[in-house]
Amino acid sequence: MTDTEIKQATREDQFAKLAAAIQNHKGERGALMPVLQEAQSIFGFVPQDVQVAIAKGLDVPLTEVYGVATFYSQFALEERGEHIIGMCLGTACYVRGAQKILDRLSSELDVKVGHSTKDGQFTLNATRCLGACGLAPVMMIDDEVYGRLTSDEIPAILAKYREPKAS
Ligand code: FES
Repeated sequence: MTDTEIKQATREDQFAKLAAAIQNHKGERGALMPVLQEAQSIFGFVPQDVQVAIAKGLDVPLTEVYGVATFYSQFALEERGEHIIGMCLGTACYVRGAQKILDRLSSELDVKVGHSTKDGQFTLNATRCLGACGLAPVMMIDDEVYGRLTSDEIPAILAKYREPKAS
């Protein structure tokens, strides 16, 4: 089997699981939420073709599926990067320049907030208070906390997580 065939088989299997999840919840009130949760756990994110399948399967408008998927932060609309960056934009961090750091992250990674880098290494998110206001401005990468940040520290921090390019 080629890599493409394996990917195709996996995808078919994922859609079969999604169809079963839809079938399980069809006709229930509020079926959309549990189906989206199952879709997220099957695919790891909820891309557009999955949203379309859910809309058709549950017979609800695609706009409703999209609306719920974008409203709740537990749902990702695109594949998450290997490392998740959460820059706090809570009040304490904001007044200490968090926006400037977020802008620096965005330009260093060449990615908009809420999206993943093309190489799949990072997802950049803005978050609410991370509960470490004494360290403001605060950023998390995966489980690691970085406090009292300045934007000039960003390149060196990112370098620790970047995979060396294959030569
Ligand atoms: S406001 Fe950023 S950690 Fe509380």
